[in-house]
Amino acid sequence: MATTALVTGATAGLGAEFARQLAAAKHDLVLVARDETRLAATAGDLLDAHGVQVETLSADLATDEGQDAVAARLGDPERPVDLLVNNAGIGTYQPFGTADWELEARQLDVNVRAVLHLSHAAVRAMTARGSGRVLNVSSVAGFVPRSGNATYSASKAWVTMFSEALALQLAGTGVTVTAVCPGFTHTEFHERASADMSGVPARMWLEAADVVREGLADAVAGKPVSVPSKRYKALVGVSQTLPRPILREIMRRRGM
Ligand SMILES: NC(=O)c1ccc[n+]([C@@H]2O[C@H](COP(=O)([O-])OP(=O)(O)OC[C@H]3O[C@@H](n4cnc5c(N)ncnc54)[C@H](OP(=O)(O)O)[C@@H]3O)[C@@H](O)[C@H]2O)c1
Repeated sequence: MATTALVTGATAGLGAEFARQLAAAKHDLVLVARDETRLAATAGDLLDAHGVQVETLSADLATDEGQDAVAARLGDPERPVDLLVNNAGIGTYQPFGTADWELEARQLDVNVRAVLHLSHAAVRAMTARGSGRVLNVSSVAGFVPRSGNATYSASKAWVTMFSEALALQLAGTGVTVTAVCPGFTHTEFHERASADMSGVPARMWLEAADVVREGLADAVAGKPVSVPSKRYKALVGVSQTLPRPILREIMRRRGM
């Protein structure tokens, strides 16, 4: 039986790759993003390449209206969604206090409030059916305090902790929750934030296809937290064992 996956931020970067790999595995899709032209083009490409059913839903997840529209789709009993991928997210890469208040608030609305709202709608519908998966795209930034990127780090710490706690609550219900925590990945993310990434060594960059492959496999395995790639698993592992003052000092020296 075909299953349906709803992917937010499905027109670029990791979201587009989630959509591609899920379509290749013959899942029907609901694609969510703001840009309608890009949504239609992405849907057309996936339909041509994989012959799955693809719906599009244009919504700004920073707004109540956009979140309500996607939550309503997730709660529709006639068209069940088996996998929710909360992928859309934004970063500002501006020291706190220098970016406009609206941008800081928008970052939390997309990275946190939308994840909360859509997870709520999905978990209600999935627990009622006794099956389903939620995959929340978090970040390794949620494990460490990133000077100059405080709102983003905190938003992703929330996503990881929320996912892990929810996974505990839902154990035995047939519904799983997984936080996928990538490191630096080649997408449009940093360009959108006008961030200068020239100081990040080449070895620290991941490819979206690898992150998504490992993230999906960990979600299918029901793991609550997934850190794609050996190098980031090692870094996160070490960061979790360091005394907090030492970790803070390392992050202070490193800057953003
Ligand atoms: N790239 C990295 O290095 C990296 C590392 C760790 C974690 N992540 C996380 O990975 C996730 C995906 O990021 P990415 O790197 O793939 O970014 P990306 O290439 O910039 O793609 C972002 C996607 O989200 C959509 N989007 C942005 N704002 C939205 C809004 N308000 N409402 C609805 N859709 C919105 C965009 O489409 P529209 O503009 O058309 O809406 C686009 O489809 C994010 O949660 C990010 O925090 C990224």
